[in-house]
Order: sequence, then structure tokens, then C-alpha cells
Amino acid sequence: MKNILVTGGAGFIGSNFIRYILNKNEEVRVINVDKLTYAGNLENLKGLEGNPRYIFEKIDICNKQAVKRVMEDYNVDTIINFAAESHVDRSIVDPTEFINTNIKGTQILLDIAKKIWTIGEDKYKEGTRYVQVSTDEVYGSLEQDEKCFTEKTPLNPHSPYSASKASADMLVKAYYDTYKFPACITRCSNNYGPYQFPEKFIPLIINNCLKHKLIPIYGDGSNIRDWLYVEDHCEAIYKVALKGKIGDIYNIGGHNERTNIQIVKKIINYMHDNVDDSINEKLITYVKDRKGHDKRYGINPEKIFKELNWIPKTQFEDGIVQTIKWYLKNQEWLENVVSGEYEKYYNRMYKI
Ligand code: NAD
Ligand code: DAU
Repeated sequence: MKNILVTGGAGFIGSNFIRYILNKNEEVRVINVDKLTYAGNLENLKGLEGNPRYIFEKIDICNKQAVKRVMEDYNVDTIINFAAESHVDRSIVDPTEFINTNIKGTQILLDIAKKIWTIGEDKYKEGTRYVQVSTDEVYGSLEQDEKCFTEKTPLNPHSPYSASKASADMLVKAYYDTYKFPACITRCSNNYGPYQFPEKFIPLIINNCLKHKLIPIYGDGSNIRDWLYVEDHCEAIYKVALKGKIGDIYNIGGHNERTNIQIVKKIINYMHDNVDDSINEKLITYVKDRKGHDKRYGINPEKIFKELNWIPKTQFEDGIVQTIKWYLKNQEWLENVVSGEYEKYYNRMYKI
């Protein structure tokens, strides 16, 4: 039985990952540690409470004693570090928590795992593995005619969020280079799918459509993101955890670049045709651009295609419809997450 410590498992990708792993019905036990920030929500894991292969502990990854205790109590052999402050806009307002969780928290996980897993100089217990869930944003921004990011593209982060993720990546690399610590790094493009917090673009559009609220587009809407369905990301991470080469980086993406305005129109059109014909493009409103807004992200995923035999299963045209349908079906979940803190955040962010 493998004992996988998932950090940040009450967030968007972490919760999808836990469901993915437990549904595979393999010989794994998942220990989810999450601080339950505004972005963490146990509702995302509803139904798993009684599962003997699932354990939840409310823990901050910056709390060394608590992390050490959990690692020892559950005999953890694999760590998948999702825990992070993840929203670029919030990092622009205040980077403090991004530095704490994303950098300091990563170093604490690395340090404790190194101590517990060590069996001799630069030698670690059989089967131990650390996966750092990073992002394509560490590479910076591409021009329209530039080639997609490869694992060799130099790091050039622009936002406090991406700078904190790049710093964490450098620490992971340092632990491998210096101590041969058994770590891999994954760098994925933008995810979409169920349970994404509606501060992020796609669920924000869906939520605003449902409420007939204006949809804020930064700048002129021509920025490009490379979208991947969350379950495909989960599968890729699991492959890296099982078979990735220690010390290596794996880009994850599905060659699915779209402008922001294309995304908005796609969702509005679906909602217009299937939900309410009063939802239309009049909801689109152009607002002040994000500071330091990266123009384009595009991932070259050839390495993980070739080495780990991973390819995305979900086409964007299907994935986006599945996602919209999920939000339509789970409006109670949506209402719970957009009440309270989110509402205050939204009103501070968008004066529309
Ligand atoms: P999210 O914001 O939805 O979830 C983050 C989770 O981490 C939350 O449950 C939160 O409570 C928890 N957390 C925050 N600080 C913590 C701390 N100090 N200790 C313990 N738990 C803490 O984020 P997400 O979108 O699911 O992203 C997960 C990871 O994937 C992040 O590391 C992010 O950088 C990376 N990533 C995200 C995307 C994307 O498109 N969302 C793409 C590539 C990589
Ligand atoms: O590329 C991976 C990254 O994708 C992850 O590392 C981050 O954690 C994740 O948040 C995401 O970052 P982005 O900044 O690309 O995602 P976001 O959903 O915030 O924005 C997507 C695009 O939409 C971006 O160009 C900004 C634009 N946007 C976003 C919001 C919230 C708008 O035009 N209006 C908005 O209100």
C-alpha cells in the first residue's frame, strides 16, 4: 500500500486528484493536508469522509512539527505538493502569503521528507518520491510567433505568484542537485473543470452568466492561455509520481491555445443556446488590464508524451461543455463558495 501525502487537496486540482486516485482503486492511501484557506473547501471532497483509504488533516505546510508528525504517523512515501496561493491577481495585491506558502512551505516539506526518507548519504528509502506541482507561468510570456515553452526554456516569471512558484522550483532542483533528493517537477498550463474557485476566469464567466452580471475582460481580450482539462492534468501528475525520472521536469499541456475573448464567447454562446437566451455578448465588458499581464502561454508537452506515454483524453470542445454542465448541476456548491469572502473580494477587484 502506497501512502500518498497530498498537500492542498481541498483546492481545485488537489481535490480532483484525490478523487482520480481513489477511483482508480489502486493500493494507495491518500493523506490530505490542507490549511483550508479561502480556496480550500471540504465540500470538494464530499462523499469521501468514510473512505478507509482517505484521511484529512487540517494543517499548514509551514508548520514543521505538524508536517513531521503526519509524515511519520502515516508512513508517507510519496508527497504531491499542490498547496499554494494560486491566484495571480491576489499576488499582485499582496505577495506575502505567496512567499510563505509557496516558497517557505515547499522548503519545509523538502526538508522534513529528506530527513525522514534518508537511509544513508544521498540515499533514500525505496519507493519514496516528491512531486512539485508547478506551472507554465514560471517561463514568463510568449510572443505570438514564439515557439512553445519546453523544459529547457529559461525561467522568467513576472508576477509575484509566478516568481514564488519559480523560487520553489529552484529549491526542489537544489535538493536534487545537492542531496540527490528523489524529486520531480511538473509544469502545467491553465486547468479548467469541476470545483474550480470562481475567482479564476472560466468559473467566473459561468457564474456571472448565471447571475446576468457583467463579465470583466482584462485589456483587449487578446491574451492567450493553453487550456487543459483538470483530469488530464491529474493523470499526468500520477504518471510522473510513478514513473517520472528523478531530478527531471515535465511540461504538461494539450496544445489548446485560445484567446480570452474566444473563451468568453464560447461560454456565452452555450449558455444562450442551452440555459437562457437573454444571456448574450452584451455581458462582455473590457476593464483595466492586469498589471504585468503575460501575453501568451503555450506548452510543448513532447517530453511527457514520449517518455511517460501520456496524452490528454479530453478535447476542449467536450471539456468545456462538461464543465459548464457541472456548474449548472452544482449551483448550491457555487452559491456556498461565492458568498462571504468571495463577494467582498469581487467588489474590491471589479468596480463594475
Ligand atoms: P487552489 O487555490 O484551488 O487550491 C490551493 C489549495 O492549497 C487550497 O485548498 C488551500 O487551502 C491550500 N493551501 C494554501 N495554503 C496552504 C498552506 N500553507 N498549507 C496547506 N494548504 C494550503 O489551487 P489550484 O488551482 O488547485 O492549484 C494547485 C496547484 O497547482 C498550485 O500549486 C498551482 O500553482 C498549480 N497549478 C495550477 C494551475 C491552474 O490552472 N489552476 C495550473 C498549473 C499549476
Ligand atoms: O498557467 C497556469 C496558471 O493558470 C496557474 O499557475 C495559476 O494558478 C492559475 O490561476 C492560472 O493563472 P492565470 O492568471 O492564467 O489564470 P486566470 O484564470 O486568473 O486568468 C486567465 C486569463 O483570463 C488571464 O489572461 C487573465 C484573464 N482574466 C482573468 C480574470 C480573473 C480576465 O480577463 N478577467 C478576469 O476577471
